[in-house]
Amino acid sequence: MSCNRQLADKMRLAPAHSIKGNLRLPGDKSISHRAALIAGLASNSSEISNFSTARDCASTISCLRELGISIEEKGGKLFFAGGQNLTSPDKPLDCGNSGSTLRILTGVLAGHDLTAELVGDESLSSRPMRRIIEPLELMGAKIESTEGKAPLKIRGSKKLTPIEYKLPIASAQVKSAILFAGLNAEGRTTVIETSQSRDHTERLFNGFGVPVTTNSDLSVSVEGPARFTGGSITVPGDVSSAAYFVAAAMLLRGSELTIEDVGLNPTRAAFLSVLSSWGGDLSTGDVQTERNEPYGTINVRGGITRTADEEARTLRQSMIPSLIDELPLLAVVGSQISGGIQIRDAGELRLKESDRLAATAGNLRAMGAEVEEFEDGLFVSGPTRLRGARIDSHDDHRIAMAFSIAALIADGETEIDGSECVAISFPEFYGLLHSLAIR
Ligand code: S3P
Repeated sequence: MSCNRQLADKMRLAPAHSIKGNLRLPGDKSISHRAALIAGLASNSSEISNFSTARDCASTISCLRELGISIEEKGGKLFFAGGQNLTSPDKPLDCGNSGSTLRILTGVLAGHDLTAELVGDESLSSRPMRRIIEPLELMGAKIESTEGKAPLKIRGSKKLTPIEYKLPIASAQVKSAILFAGLNAEGRTTVIETSQSRDHTERLFNGFGVPVTTNSDLSVSVEGPARFTGGSITVPGDVSSAAYFVAAAMLLRGSELTIEDVGLNPTRAAFLSVLSSWGGDLSTGDVQTERNEPYGTINVRGGITRTADEEARTLRQSMIPSLIDELPLLAVVGSQISGGIQIRDAGELRLKESDRLAATAGNLRAMGAEVEEFEDGLFVSGPTRLRGARIDSHDDHRIAMAFSIAALIADGETEIDGSECVAISFPEFYGLLHSLAIR
């Protein structure tokens, strides 16, 4: 279980009138994982500011320490000495609930002369790992698993064989695992995607001195052997965490919300265009970049200002990877959209921290929405007046947060079971929600 049941693990939420405020968020989880791995592998020192406070990112840091990398924490920043080599850990590397830690770190370890075991919690141990085992074994790593699942035992090699690999599924974690392994392959390693997934690895490799070429046919290549040049980075605020407040502000008329210094990478921020196309009054501005990652300000004014056309109300195919973590939240918002919304080609959601299609459908129904569940998606009818209910988070942070937003627009009180799991990505979530919500 990802949640500590000893702690107060039920959150009671009352409806809210509006969301008002101005906020900055802890660093993006996906960028933080990658920045830490890059800093751990770099030839010289690095400094990371606004590192994610997510429990998942703490898992990446503790695994790097177990691998012999010294990381100091001072004044809210992380300092990496640089020029260190990874060594075989004395005990299993605990990846906790974090798929990114387990999958991307396995790619890193594939290119080092060491052996290691990677373990995870119950949820992570039930998630598919063949997707990384297959390409990394083609490159020359040896990986033992339990029927394609964690625990994984890896024996890496400093001399991997470069591969050209077509991803059977759109996954930034798998793409990243192969690119990190490619650092220690002799020659060009290429990953070909079917749909564009988040591209933080490509941007940060280029930002820390390892050129990655990306082509219009969705192929991405890195030339090995290569080593990062360390440096400093301030991680932009987490746009996936921002999504919950953006949605809440859109759903509550009278809201006014500004989020500053938040990541605006187009492979992550696609939910903003979806919400706009559903009638949200949103804008972005002040765009700057940090190590090739765009960030800026998001402004939201409350209320659904126009009717969405049918095309905008269907999310499918190439749109799915850039919305992947926001889909449960978009299903909640969809229950308020005239004509309802449809999500298809999203079977991957069944393989996340929980089966997010089943969890979303079950909880929306508990709140009085009409939902049709397909193998690869959902139809959510709307607009529906939701009623407060008892919500099962399935110990999945994104489900707990999506339904906490639903609670704000429901009649009566909502209780979120297993709410403590929000700490997996966003420990500050309930504190911020209470300070921004006007009741
Ligand atoms: C992530 C990629 C996505 C996403 C996860 C973080 C990453 O997973 O769902 O929360 O940091 O690369 P997949 O790559 O498996 O789709």
